[in-house]
Amino acid sequence: MVEMDKIVSLCKRRGFIFQSSEIYGGLGSAWDYGPLGVEFKNNVKRLWWRDNVQLRDDMVGLDAAITMHPRVWEASGHVASFSDPFTGCADCGRHYRADQIMDAIWNSRWFRAFNKMLEGPAAKKDVQKAIENWAQSDGKKLAPNFPQVHVGENVRLPLEGSNDPGFLELLRNIAHGSNSNRMGFLCPNCGSGNLSVPKPASLMLETFLGPVKETAVKTYLRPETAQGMFVNFDNVLQAARKKLPFGIAQLGKSFRNEITPGNFTFRTREFEQMEIEFFVMPGTDEEWHQRWVDERFAWYQKYGIRKENIRLREHEKDELAFYAKRCVDVEYLFPMGWSELEGIANRTDYDLRQHSQYSGRALEYFDEQSKQKLIPYVIEPAAGADRSTLAFLADAYHEEEVKGEKRVILRFHPEIAPTKIAVLPLLKSNDRIVETAKKLTADLRRRWFTVYDDTASIGRLYRRQDEVGTPFCVTVDVQTVGDDKAAADHQVTVRERDTMQQVRVALAQLPAVMERVMNGEWTEVQRQHGLTRE
Ligand code: GAP
Repeated sequence: MVEMDKIVSLCKRRGFIFQSSEIYGGLGSAWDYGPLGVEFKNNVKRLWWRDNVQLRDDMVGLDAAITMHPRVWEASGHVASFSDPFTGCADCGRHYRADQIMDAIWNSRWFRAFNKMLEGPAAKKDVQKAIENWAQSDGKKLAPNFPQVHVGENVRLPLEGSNDPGFLELLRNIAHGSNSNRMGFLCPNCGSGNLSVPKPASLMLETFLGPVKETAVKTYLRPETAQGMFVNFDNVLQAARKKLPFGIAQLGKSFRNEITPGNFTFRTREFEQMEIEFFVMPGTDEEWHQRWVDERFAWYQKYGIRKENIRLREHEKDELAFYAKRCVDVEYLFPMGWSELEGIANRTDYDLRQHSQYSGRALEYFDEQSKQKLIPYVIEPAAGADRSTLAFLADAYHEEEVKGEKRVILRFHPEIAPTKIAVLPLLKSNDRIVETAKKLTADLRRRWFTVYDDTASIGRLYRRQDEVGTPFCVTVDVQTVGDDKAAADHQVTVRERDTMQQVRVALAQLPAVMERVMNGEWTEVQRQHGLTRE
């Protein structure tokens, strides 16, 4: 798997994603999608919308407001309990998710160095002395608040993993040495043992509506798009006259005051969700849940995620929200390891019941067959647009060597590639070539997002397009337009990104050929037209 640094660097270099407010030093964990990034992410969202809303009879769309009535968030349970446990370091002021602190320690620079020292010969001879020496040398720089060391007698060494009881024991003992009444963990940033006792921190971002703060209405920036769909259940039911099973889909921004955002766009405080609330008859919920799990798992693979990099993870009973009957995560092998891409939950009738109770408006469905009112169950496939975009990017990233040079390619599926075609003039000093290429760009643009580029030699232009994942380049050359020696052949060269194979195609046939290759028929086209070069 590609390292995150390479993706971050390519994203900046090629205009996919920039650090937010960079000229002011940047705002932590906020990101701006650049010229190619916005095309790319829009494609991900458009395909999700097309496949889940427009191509289905049993789904309708919604675009609800981001700010909602504050009671919505009381009914949903977010005000009372949408929080993560956090702990703070009294010495350096950093905050951490208490449930993720072991990972943070394990991945910190100082702890990796510490661990290396523990595996070294000095520690094998006298571990306490080795730790004390380390704390006075390397540790002084890497973990300046590393406490005085008192290692207990029962510690097992060498340490093999963060779950090793010996490891936990060691950390407790080390921290104990400096501060006996604190948590037995050390700060991943400065090594201090002064971490506070974990307590819940609300993830809700408050906002105030109205010009005068004292009288303004306090509400929240929505932490999920889901509630907009639940509170509109009856409106949609009446307006769209849907019968169960049917779903409402919504795509839009959500906000969470995450304690530890990070890993590029993976966890941010402002992000976009792509959520479905699919309402079903109670009793059919388990079957529908499984159908959605299978469908959503297949969706990512349809647009290029390799099957070895994606998996399903069933939630353990103790992980489930109290109202959820079952939840399955689609996980992707991100550069930092397997992590959630989408959660698919059976939320039972909890949300509709809560909103009925809090609003006093019955959110029910009249079943013609039994002539009875009932509260539908809900299956919720909840995906992140930014996480999906990051997964498609990471999965497409490849490096290879071509004629002794490194070639970086983003092997995007043509449907998600930001630019579909690049038209390249072989000679920018030849007016006829340039004119033909520009006209061709304008023609192709009406159907596919096409760019014209004449700012470098053809080899460099190809590499540039490879690096941003453009599936096809079309080159206009002297033969296309003719010169004093030969008449124009009115043909152009079409080059495929992954194989670098080229075919010669008549200009008149180009739109039809492009239609075929975009639909995955490169091999057939190449057989029919014959290869020009590889
Ligand atoms: N309505 C259910 C719900 O919101 P969730 O698992 O909290 O469920 C769904 O969120 C998806 O939204 C996640 O799988 C992830 O893709 C995305 N997501 C959640 N928090 C995020 C964050 N802080 N940054 C980026 N994406 C996030």
